[in-house]
Amino acid sequence: MSGPSESGSGKVGTPELFDKVVNLTKRRGFVYPSAEIYGGFRSTYDYGPIGVLLLRNVKDAWWRSMVQLREDVVGLDASILSPPQIWEASGHLANFTDPLVDCTKCNTRHRLDKLDDPEVCPNCGARGSFTEPREFNLMFKTQAGPVQDAGAVAYLRPETAQGMFINFKNVIDTTRVRPPFGIAQVGKSFRNEITPGNFVFRTREFEQMEMEFFVHPDEAQQWYEYWCAERYQWYLDHGMPEDQLRLRPHDDDELSHYSSGTSDVEFLFPWGWDELEGIANRGNYDLTQHAAHSGEKLEWYDQAANERWVPHVIEPAAGATRTAMAFLMAAYDEEEVKGETRVVLRLHHRIAPYKVAVLPLSKKAELADPARALAQQLRGSFMTDYDETQSIGRRYRRQDELGTPYCITFDFDSLEDHAVTVRERDSMEQERIAIADVASYLRERMI
Ligand code: GAP
Repeated sequence: MSGPSESGSGKVGTPELFDKVVNLTKRRGFVYPSAEIYGGFRSTYDYGPIGVLLLRNVKDAWWRSMVQLREDVVGLDASILSPPQIWEASGHLANFTDPLVDCTKCNTRHRLDKLDDPEVCPNCGARGSFTEPREFNLMFKTQAGPVQDAGAVAYLRPETAQGMFINFKNVIDTTRVRPPFGIAQVGKSFRNEITPGNFVFRTREFEQMEMEFFVHPDEAQQWYEYWCAERYQWYLDHGMPEDQLRLRPHDDDELSHYSSGTSDVEFLFPWGWDELEGIANRGNYDLTQHAAHSGEKLEWYDQAANERWVPHVIEPAAGATRTAMAFLMAAYDEEEVKGETRVVLRLHHRIAPYKVAVLPLSKKAELADPARALAQQLRGSFMTDYDETQSIGRRYRRQDELGTPYCITFDFDSLEDHAVTVRERDSMEQERIAIADVASYLRERMI
């Protein structure tokens, strides 16, 4: 796989791209800083009317390929609030820590393992000004119920994965699954990150898309390789350029406490290669730990062979919010059209917030009413926008910035020929299509 490219916008790997995308997301209603009217709140973000569609599409595309299209994966939605026993068993209470140092000169806090030079403060440049590192646990602790005793301690989950392990027995007892099979979940996770940043790349509240795949111990390596290839391909299939995507195996000293092998799918962000997803071979660590701590037998009984064994687990673990951001970065493009700069998000149609926009050439009821009726008809199959304000050129530009693959212009001729003009986002080519055929035209290209 290759390094930085000059493809697409020609701005891959530059800080300007980052600023442009962040600016666009605010201007067009993708992402807002949370609690902005109160001055914002510590690297938290709200997804606006367009962003919520984008994020939902990322999660739906993942769910579609990981659950809907597979016979061997089932879904789950586990609770976020969880008792300490889970995190004791998983190892998170002891090991889910980052080394924290304070600069005694400028009073800023840093993650020691993320510093370019562990002796130099990146904020004030002081050398040798750091305190001794302290291990800082990233889990958010809270209390369940009104009484503040030890029994009330609860944690916000720092990963969705443990929900699958603690429900392993429930799932095998109540469904028809048998190894190799997976349990998938999409949901919020929380980590008290020391240094959140780079917009929604690293936040304290974020969404994950994780799947635990339970296999016979002898087949673990083969399934690990299978899932590495599948997950890498998923990003390509959804429009990530090959030269901005790579699969990087971890060095031994990078491995998590549970992992015997991990590879990251990495995207070339404006600041360099960084992680979108980790695919880990977790061995039988989690089921063994939860069995020991809970007293439940967490194993598979193979009736035919009369054998009991603890499945090994392959885990593809992706970030939904981080992936949504990467899709935006990869899709952002600028080009000169008739002496003006056109900004366009070349998003894959499955990821694009709106699939189609209906734009009547005039606001007059004569055009607006049938255009609205067409938009309403399309809404049954596609997320559809309707816009009758401003000039048609400005409305096209707005839809280009939202990444809408198709715009439909309803003009005065439409009243006579019962046809509309369909404009494709990337080529800007236009075609005259009978109104009765519009839905099937879009379906052929997008479903
Ligand atoms: N169960 C394994 C696990 O949670 P991880 O690598 O810590 O593994 C998986 O997290 C994915 O979750 C990451 O690849 C990343 O995309 C996303 N993620 C992790 N921490 C995040 C954060 N603070 N903000 C946004 N996304 C995060």
